[in-house]
Formats: sequence, structure tokens, C-alpha cells
Amino acid sequence: MENSIVQLESITKKFGQITAVDHVSLEILAGEFFSILGPSGCGKTTLLRLIAGLETPDSGFIYLHNKLINSVPPYQRDVNMVFQNYALFPHMNVYENIAFGLKMRKMRKEEIDQKVSNALELVGLSGMGLRKTTQLSGGQQQRVALARALVNEPSVLLLDEPLGALDLKLRKQMQMELKSLQKQLGITFIYVTHDQEEALTMSDKIAVMSAGKIEQLGTPSQIYDKPKSEFVSNFIGISNLFEGDLKSLDNSTLVLNTPDGIEIKALVNDSTYPRTAIAMVRPEKIQIDTQKPEKEVNFLRGKIIDIVYLGTVMQFKVRYKNRDVFILEKNCDRASEYSLDQEVFISWDFNSTVILPES
Ligand SMILES: Nc1ncnc2c1ncn2[C@@H]1O[C@H](COP(=O)(O)OP(=O)(O)O)[C@@H](O)[C@H]1O
Ligand SMILES: [Mg+2]
Repeated sequence: MENSIVQLESITKKFGQITAVDHVSLEILAGEFFSILGPSGCGKTTLLRLIAGLETPDSGFIYLHNKLINSVPPYQRDVNMVFQNYALFPHMNVYENIAFGLKMRKMRKEEIDQKVSNALELVGLSGMGLRKTTQLSGGQQQRVALARALVNEPSVLLLDEPLGALDLKLRKQMQMELKSLQKQLGITFIYVTHDQEEALTMSDKIAVMSAGKIEQLGTPSQIYDKPKSEFVSNFIGISNLFEGDLKSLDNSTLVLNTPDGIEIKALVNDSTYPRTAIAMVRPEKIQIDTQKPEKEVNFLRGKIIDIVYLGTVMQFKVRYKNRDVFILEKNCDRASEYSLDQEVFISWDFNSTVILPES
């Protein structure tokens, strides 16, 4: 494709018995903020290392700028990697760390000085060139690692959980900075994280990985609103899952009955479904009420067993028989209407029900 910058075609990488990356195919477009999201051990780092050339695939093809690069060594690939543990050279100061790659390429001293100074400015560390890296905070070390990669002006920057070691406040700040840096420079970012919120807020596109495979590829809203599997819906955000038997399906309206007596209605595209299916409803799509709503489906009566204030929203946990349902209520003014152990009615619209096609 014209706009494509990185393409993976059925890439597989094994370590002994373990298949770290299992027939992964992906296309990443120039200028995209592309995240690879998945639990620890699912193969994210291996995938980045394959693109960087630090690992060789057992099978499959890797293209960069539409050229096959399987046998191109790492230093000749137009990509740079920012490692999870920063991997700064401890015996060098900040300037020397950033200048290292340029010196190897035998660039003139004046040019190196200029580029290092620009890179330091980009990451907000102007004037810190002579500091020892061992005297820097975690956040500052991560900025040096970032500058060291950016100074080479790669087309693609590979970032392996770059904010993982930072505390929450600094992480949030760095998320904003990284995102605006990426837009400003127009570099393609391939960003690895296990943090679903980070991936949702930063990315143009997300690939959700599990056990070496891509489970789903899409924009943040596609992934969140239309998860393709139970794994994706559970991994991203909170989801209420209702497994049930198919009662009827006509005119794209599907009705499921759960074993605990809830009748669930959903809008669907396909004309056939298996006898059992899983319905998913996001907590913010559910309304909570003290009065019985005028509904016969997508409705249940339960007891509040937990109320958590999350700043701008309240989270309720409502128990129905052996089931707990999570609800997010944006209108905190209604807090006084509710208390623990209270009987309430919860309901949702039939077009807020997502039927998971696979399980
Ligand atoms: N060099 C290696 N030797 C043996 N096993 C490895 C090696 N690198 C990764 N693995 C294994 O491959 C799988 C994927 O690892 P990794 O890509 O690091 O996952 P993630 O970054 O998603 O946590 C894991 O089971 C891991 O133990
Ligand atoms: Mg990793």
C-alpha cells in the first residue's frame, strides 16, 4: 500500500518450545501512532525486536518502506528502539549517550553538537548535557533514552513500555508529551504497552495481542465498543458479560436468555448465530434507577453491594443472584439517592448490547 511504512507478513518466532510470535501479519501506516497491547509474555517485545532486526524471524517477511528487510542488519534499518529499562550507557554523560550513534557514523563535531542540542530541547532537557546519567531521575533517564533514539531521525520509533517504570502522575504527563512529540515530528511510533488506558488514549490504532497472535486490530473506539472476543472485552476496560441461550433472531434483533433469568436483546448484523452466545455491556451504558423502568428485556432488579467514588463518576456494583454487574454513573449529584444494600433496577438500551462473535 502507498502509505504503508511497516508491513509484517505471517511472522513467526520461536524460542525452543515457545512460540513468542505466531503468524503475525500487520500493516502500519506512515505517521501513525500504533500500539501493541497485551498481557505480559504475549510476545510484544519480541515483535518489536523483530522489526528492529535484533531477532530474526523463523518464517515470514518484514517490509520497511515497501522493501524486504529480513536480512538487513539493525544499524541499517531506518528504525530506532527505546528499551523498557532505558539501557543508557552508565559511564557516559547525557551528551555522550545521545551523541553515540552520530559519532559512530563519523559525523562532524559541530553537527553532532547541534543535533544533540536539538534533541535535548525536544525532550525538555536543554542544558543538561554534562549531567551523569546516574544522577538523573527515572523520568529524566527515559527522556535521554528518547533523545538518543530521536537524534538519529528514524522514520519509525519503536518504544517498549517506555513509561512502565514511572509513577502515575509522571506517566500521565509523559503520555501527553510523547503524543504531541509524535504529531510534531510526524514519526511513526510503534508503541508497546500492557496498559489498556494508555493505549486507548494515545493511539491511532491498536493491535491487541494474546499468546503470540493478534486478537484484534482497530481504532481505540472500535476495540472498546466492538470487541471481537471475550479476551479483548475483558482486557480493555470493564465489561459485563452475560452468557445465554439463543431464544430468537429476526430482523437483526437477537434475544438471549441467561440461566439466571435475564432476557437480553441486541442488534446484530449476521443472520445466523450459535445456540449459545455471550452478550457484553459496558458499565457506562447501564442506567441505575430506584423506580422500575418500563422494560421487559435488558433489565434486572438487584442489590447495591459496593459504591466507589472515582472523582467525576460513581461506580456501583449491583448483585443479582450470583452475578455482579458494574455500572458507571456520571451524574454524581444522584449520589444521595443510593446506599449500600439498597434494592435498585438496572437497565440498558438494546443497541448497547454487544454480542461477542467468538468465545
Ligand atoms: N530470548 C528468549 N529466550 C527464550 N524465551 C524467550 C526469549 N525472549 C522471549 N521469550 C519468551 O517468549 C514469550 C514472549 O516474550 P516477550 O516478547 O518478552 O513478551 P512481552 O514483551 O509481551 O512480555 C515469553 O514466553 C518469553 O518467556
Ligand atoms: Mg516486554
